Amino acid sequence: MPHIAIISSSVRTERNSHRVALYFKDYLETNDLATVEILDLDKYHFPLFDERLMFQKNPSAETLDIAAKIKSADGILIVTPEYNGGYPASLKNVIDLLYNEWHRKPVAISTVTSGAFGASQVLISLQFILWKMRAWTVPALFQVPNIKDAYDESGNATDKASSDSTAANFINELLWCIEAKKRMAD
Ligand SMILES: Cc1cc2nc3c(=O)[nH]c(=O)nc-3n(C[C@H](O)[C@H](O)[C@H](O)COP(=O)(O)O)c2cc1C
Repeated sequence: MPHIAIISSSVRTERNSHRVALYFKDYLETNDLATVEILDLDKYHFPLFDERLMFQKNPSAETLDIAAKIKSADGILIVTPEYNGGYPASLKNVIDLLYNEWHRKPVAISTVTSGAFGASQVLISLQFILWKMRAWTVPALFQVPNIKDAYDESGNATDKASSDSTAANFINELLWCIEAKKRMAD
């Protein structure tokens, strides 16, 4: 069974996008699709980036931990809010920390907003920087508008059937990329 690391990007007080990270953990585990760990950037609380891990002389335990978890995961699912049309600093902070860990890594992106339009702008900008890092961004959408109405604080979807149906297509693409990469490595 593949192992998927879910990056929950928002470190904002009273954040809402974490609900979607919780939803996906439950969705993947309940349907026996993957083993899952949430990498919660609010728990790591990295200091502002000052150098890439490969050039750090005394990397912190947290830095080594997230690097190992991203490297060993078969696929990554990033849950990100949209802030002023872009990604939160907390997410860029950790993406820049690493380099080879991203190479050919299947990465699916779920964008979350309290607004009505599903955060399309952050999707474009985040795809670009992941492409620059040589990650393999999965061509599938899971856009969440009106987050507070759509999921509760535990990650339960208000319209579970609809959410699960969209998640099935989205996760299927991520799993396809994970399987394709595995076959290439054989
Ligand atoms: C600094 C800031 C900028 C934001 N800019 C946008 C935006 O450009 N587009 C949008 O749809 N929502 C925007 N929002 C609202 C977020 O979508 C909302 O906070 C949502 O709950 C996801 O972020 P969270 O996980 O931090 O709660 C912004 C929120 C903050 C705090």
